[in-house]
Amino acid sequence: MLPWPCDWDALFADDAPAGGPLILEIGFGYGHFLKHLSAQNPQARIVGVEIANECLVHVEKMRDRGDLPNVRAVFSRAETALYHLFAPASLDQIHVNFPDPWFKARHERRRLMTPSNLAVMTSRLKPGGRLYLATDIHDYALMSDEALRGTAGLVNTLPAPWSDDPLPGRIITKYERKAIAEGRARHYFAYRRDDTPLPDLPVITEAPMPHITLALPLTAPEIASAFTSFSAKAAAREPRGMAGQISVNASEAFTGRGAVLVECYVSEPTIHQHVAVMIVPIKERPGEWAVGLGTLGSPRPTDGIHFAVRKVAEWAVSLHPDARITGDKARTGFESLTPDAQSE
Ligand SMILES: C[S@@+](CC[C@H](N)C(=O)[O-])C[C@H]1O[C@@H](n2cnc3c(N)ncnc32)[C@H](O)[C@@H]1O
Repeated sequence: MLPWPCDWDALFADDAPAGGPLILEIGFGYGHFLKHLSAQNPQARIVGVEIANECLVHVEKMRDRGDLPNVRAVFSRAETALYHLFAPASLDQIHVNFPDPWFKARHERRRLMTPSNLAVMTSRLKPGGRLYLATDIHDYALMSDEALRGTAGLVNTLPAPWSDDPLPGRIITKYERKAIAEGRARHYFAYRRDDTPLPDLPVITEAPMPHITLALPLTAPEIASAFTSFSAKAAAREPRGMAGQISVNASEAFTGRGAVLVECYVSEPTIHQHVAVMIVPIKERPGEWAVGLGTLGSPRPTDGIHFAVRKVAEWAVSLHPDARITGDKARTGFESLTPDAQSE
C-alpha cells in the first residue's frame, strides 16, 4: 500500500533521479503511451494509474521485460490518486488519453474531465506544468473544452480549443489506432498551469483508526442473526469545495470465533472501499465489545470509514435496551443525509 501522500523519490529509488520530473498518465490502458513517455523522459519518474486489472498485468509484464524502467503502475482511480497520493504543485505533466466518456446522465459522476477533477489536477501541477487530453468523442471534447476554459490556473497553449492533428512528438495509442481505423476524428488539448494562486487542496491523509466500545448483553451469533442490511448517508467534509457525500451500505453480517464481521461498502468523493467492520468481544471486560475496522481488503481509515464504524456501533446498540456506548474514538459531527436518521 502506498503512503498518503506517496514518497515518489523512495518509490523510484535507483530507477530515476530523486527530485526529477514527475509525470502522471491517467487510464494508461495497454501501456503504449507509458513506454513512449519513458523513452522520451529517461530521467523522469513516470506514474500510471489504471483501474482495469488486465491492463495492470500487461504493464507489469512490460516492466518485467525491462521496457519501463522509470515507470510505476498504480491500481487506483484517478480521483483517489490525485487527492491522496500527489502533493500540491508536484507534477510536471498529466496525460489523459481517450478517457471513457460515460455518456448517460446517471453516469455523469464517473466522468474524468469534470470541474472538480480539473481543480485537483491543476492544484497538483507545478506552475508551468502541462495537462494534455486526447479524445475521439466530439461531445466529450466540447464538454472538456468548457470545463478546461472554466478552470482557474490553466491556460490553453494552442491557438484553438483543440488540435485535430496529433501534437508533435506524440505516438498513437492502442485505443487511438482503433478510433482511426473506425474513422473517428480526434481532438487533442494542451494546457499549461500558470502561476495564479489557487485555493488550497491539501493531500487528504489517513485518519486515526476509529474505535468504539459498547456494552451489549448478547452473544456473537445473536448479534449476527439480528442483522438486516442498512444504509446511511452523510455530507462529505473533504475535499473542501468538492460536493459529495459519504454513503455506507452494510450488506451482510457473519460470525465466527466469537466475533461479528459486518460487510460494508463505503463510498466517498475521492475513494470507494469494501471493508469489514468488526464487533469483537473485549476479553478483560465481559459483556463489552470493540467496534473497529478489520484488516480485510487493506482498508484506509478515512472519514467514510469513521462514519461506517459509527453506524455499525449505533446499529449494535439498537439491538438491546441495556446496550450503551462505553468509549468513543471515532470522528463525530457528520451531517446525516439519511431521512430517518438523526444528525450527529
Ligand atoms: C478508452 S481506454 C483508453 C486507454 C489508453 N489510454 C489508450 O489510449 O489506449 C480508457 C482507460 O481508462 C481507464 N479508466 C477509466 N476510468 C478510470 C479512472 N477513474 N481512473 C483510472 N483509469 C480509468 C480504463 O480502465 C481504460 O483502460
